[in-house]
Amino acid sequence: MSKVSPIWHPFTQHKTFGPAIEIERAEGACLYTRTGKKILDGISSWWVNTHGHCHPRIVEAVQRQAGRLDQVIFAGFTHEPAERLSRKLLKRAQSSLGPGLDFVFFSDSGSTAVEVALKMAIGHFAHTGQKRRKIVALEGGYHGDTFGTMSAGGRGVYNAPYAPYLFDVHHVPFPHKGEEAKTVQAMERWLRQYGSEAAAFIFEPLVQGAAGMRAYSPDILKTLTKLCREHGVLLIADEVMTGFGRTGTFFACEQAGVIPDLLCLSKGLTGGYLPMGATLSTRQIYKSFYHQDKTRQFFHSSSFTGNAMACAAALASLEIWEEEPVLERVAAIEAAHQRASGWFVARPDIADVRVVGSIMALDVLGDVTEGVGGSGYESVVGSRLYDLMMENGVLLRPLGNTVYILPPYCINESELEQIYETLWRSLDRLRDEGFQQAA
Ligand SMILES: Cc1ncc(COP(=O)(O)O)c(C=O)c1O
Repeated sequence: MSKVSPIWHPFTQHKTFGPAIEIERAEGACLYTRTGKKILDGISSWWVNTHGHCHPRIVEAVQRQAGRLDQVIFAGFTHEPAERLSRKLLKRAQSSLGPGLDFVFFSDSGSTAVEVALKMAIGHFAHTGQKRRKIVALEGGYHGDTFGTMSAGGRGVYNAPYAPYLFDVHHVPFPHKGEEAKTVQAMERWLRQYGSEAAAFIFEPLVQGAAGMRAYSPDILKTLTKLCREHGVLLIADEVMTGFGRTGTFFACEQAGVIPDLLCLSKGLTGGYLPMGATLSTRQIYKSFYHQDKTRQFFHSSSFTGNAMACAAALASLEIWEEEPVLERVAAIEAAHQRASGWFVARPDIADVRVVGSIMALDVLGDVTEGVGGSGYESVVGSRLYDLMMENGVLLRPLGNTVYILPPYCINESELEQIYETLWRSLDRLRDEGFQQAA
């Protein structure tokens, strides 16, 4: 058999990227390779991990569940972990956001959680006889890689070959700091013309992740969602990345006082332990599918919907939230980021240092190649920084020329220091190599 791995990895250019690094085990904020090298996971393994890798409580809960019930068809059947999890999730949503979300639909990823929300919104209006079919979104958003979620997301290098197959979604300009009025005016204008035909507004609250950790204010989110509400447009909050404490509150929508009609969750739902998606919906949307007529049921399923082990992992993760000071850990990370941002701001080769909860991001000047949301996905700077950080045992995966740190909440101060220092030294190396020009 060929020595070359037959695995086709995600978001990887195999022609130019070296062989994948084999990880043997993980613990806390660290990954360990087969050859024993320790790598600090500065991006929570694609934003999924919350309490730390292989958290003993989650491991134990999954082990216990594994010997009892693995998986059962979820149409016509249910089980105790799923029942308990749905109630816990709704209770969390109620205490964080306020009343409104009453039902949970399980799926298996962030993309499916969003895909389900889009189908629920469109189906809701179809079943209630309203001609609302249009979707509006924030320019540059990322909601997944299925055709529905690509349609809702920003158009660019990620999805260019598929553009002719994507359905029409109206994108209003991203509310850059100081330019928020443009976004509001664009939304007002569009709603005046199409408000009565609009089904839903979909957004990543407070931070657009894949677009380059682009942050915007809770106030602007409040204004935009209020405008949509005035026109009867449903709100779909994609909290796949921002949920479970990432932005400093349990859900990002909390900070804007927004209660969405559909809330999409994944990644941190199981503490990042097992794949799972969930879409929370209002009673009103649920009821439009609730009918004598079988053809009005919600025609959607993933084979692994409500997987019992994923439910057990999510329950254990939520119990950690209930019993431990998780938000205080996030606040400590935020405070460390704020201190570090003071140093990075002073560098002439860095722009727009931003901190939102556990997320810190900055843009490296020079070499900006336009990608989704202008984040320069193909940036040479990003690839070189990745290599330099990895040489020093830190995993950061820049989005173009945007470098961000998004660690598991168990990370300690000295590990955070290690990330900042390694980044600082790597930026120096980049400068010495002549990779970028100072502003
Ligand atoms: C905001 C947002 N929505 C949806 C997704 C898609 O999630 P998944 O990769 O689990 O399909 C992502 C993934 O990064 C995301 O950041």
